[in-house]
Amino acid sequence: MNFNLTEEQLAVRAAARDFAEKELLPGVIERDNAQQFPAEQIKMMGELGFMGMMVDPKYGGGGMDTVSYVLAMEEISKVDASASVVMSVNNSLVCWGLEHFGSEEQKQKYLPKLASGQQIGAFCLSEPEAGSDATSQRTTAEDKGDHYLLNGTKNWITNGNSASVYLVMAQTDPEKKHKGINCLIVERDYEGFVVGKKEDKLGIRGSDTHSLMFTDVKVPKENRIGEDGFGFTLAMKSLNGGRIGIASQALGIAAGSLERSIAYAKERKAFGKEIAQHQAIQFKIADMATKVEAARLLCLKAAMLKDRKEDYSQASAMAKLYASQVAMENAVEAVQIHGGYGFVKEYHVERFMRDAKITQIYEGTSEIQKIVISRNVLK
Ligand code: CAA
Ligand code: FAD
Repeated sequence: MNFNLTEEQLAVRAAARDFAEKELLPGVIERDNAQQFPAEQIKMMGELGFMGMMVDPKYGGGGMDTVSYVLAMEEISKVDASASVVMSVNNSLVCWGLEHFGSEEQKQKYLPKLASGQQIGAFCLSEPEAGSDATSQRTTAEDKGDHYLLNGTKNWITNGNSASVYLVMAQTDPEKKHKGINCLIVERDYEGFVVGKKEDKLGIRGSDTHSLMFTDVKVPKENRIGEDGFGFTLAMKSLNGGRIGIASQALGIAAGSLERSIAYAKERKAFGKEIAQHQAIQFKIADMATKVEAARLLCLKAAMLKDRKEDYSQASAMAKLYASQVAMENAVEAVQIHGGYGFVKEYHVERFMRDAKITQIYEGTSEIQKIVISRNVLK
């Protein structure tokens, strides 16, 4: 593996770091407290090319590789994991699926606005009774000839209220099980589509997570992505890349926890010396740094395989499984290193600890990643 970053990749990382520090850091605590969606910041991220990084420039995207995406996700997540989940869903679950499996008309209609951040997308797979068990879709898309009639409820949808375009998985032919599921593009203003309540969350409180209700929503046939019955495969293939995004989000939280711990340990004095001079703190920092390095390598490996168009489903599951565990561990240690100051909002690390937890749950829980990995390893 060659991870010598190119000039362009280094420039993307520097731009993301600069943006995160100048535009996301001021106000991040207030947005978390108020559960305020970072609308202005997401607009700026769109203008800087972070909302459709890998989309072909002919559809308004950045034409960048997945390695650049990992680098940018890490830097943005070091500061604001609420903003980075919006970025991850838009890039990997919405733009990617549309670009790779959409018709030319669908790409031209939806991608330019999504890739430039003028509009935000949402990916709607989970339901009240179909989370990990994603093939058990209860939402139905009845084939009515020139349109589908969509009925059902989706749960936990990121960008639920801020999106304009929703990719909705729904069952058309239950006899065919997951091969009867379709992915439909639903626009915000379609009749019968209602955005439900906003979830009051432990972490990533700046992102908006909603349930969505569909009652006899007429979705034109031309809004189906791919062939009849392709929806579940599309969802799984999109999630393989999505998991690289969330792994990088977790990496960012882990790395942010480390950076803040190093700075604090060099500043805080106890027993006549900086706490960084105490071996107990040094060893914590050593463990945290080693874990960040390992998580980063797994993220970059998955991204590199994706860029080379090799199979990356196992690599992305491994990256997500490990990076999310490291995010949790490093955030807890960062709070410990900060002592009492770690327990209050001003020092950011308590937010990291709350934000880290979701990375072990969404886009497939850690248990689901182990299913994906073990099936690959044992086959
Ligand atoms: N890549 C490609 N295809 C995959 C796949 C993968 N990673 N995982 C499964 N598939 C395919 C299988 O090959 C199979 O297709 P065929 O029948 O054509 O061979 C089909 O999907 C069904 O797979 P299984 O038979 O393995 O089905 P299962 O029910 O035993 O298990 C599962 C499937 C892997 C557990 C899957 O349901 C899963 O990944 N669950 C987790 C769901 C998830 O990640 N949800 C995330 C929602 S989005 C989100 O969370 C966004 C956010 O927060 C920001
Ligand atoms: P369950 O599937 O009920 O799992 C409960 C527990 O059982 C977990 O620990 C799980 O690992 C374990 N478990 C389940 N099955 C097995 C098994 N076979 N073997 C071992 N253990 C198992 N979904 C979307 O579609 N789009 C989104 O944008 C989105 N955003 C989200 C944002 C937030 C903040 C949250 C909380 C969730 C979001 N989700 C989204 C949903 C998320 O993907 C699901 O919550 C997740 O996949 C788990 O499903 P569940 O909550 O139904 O848990």
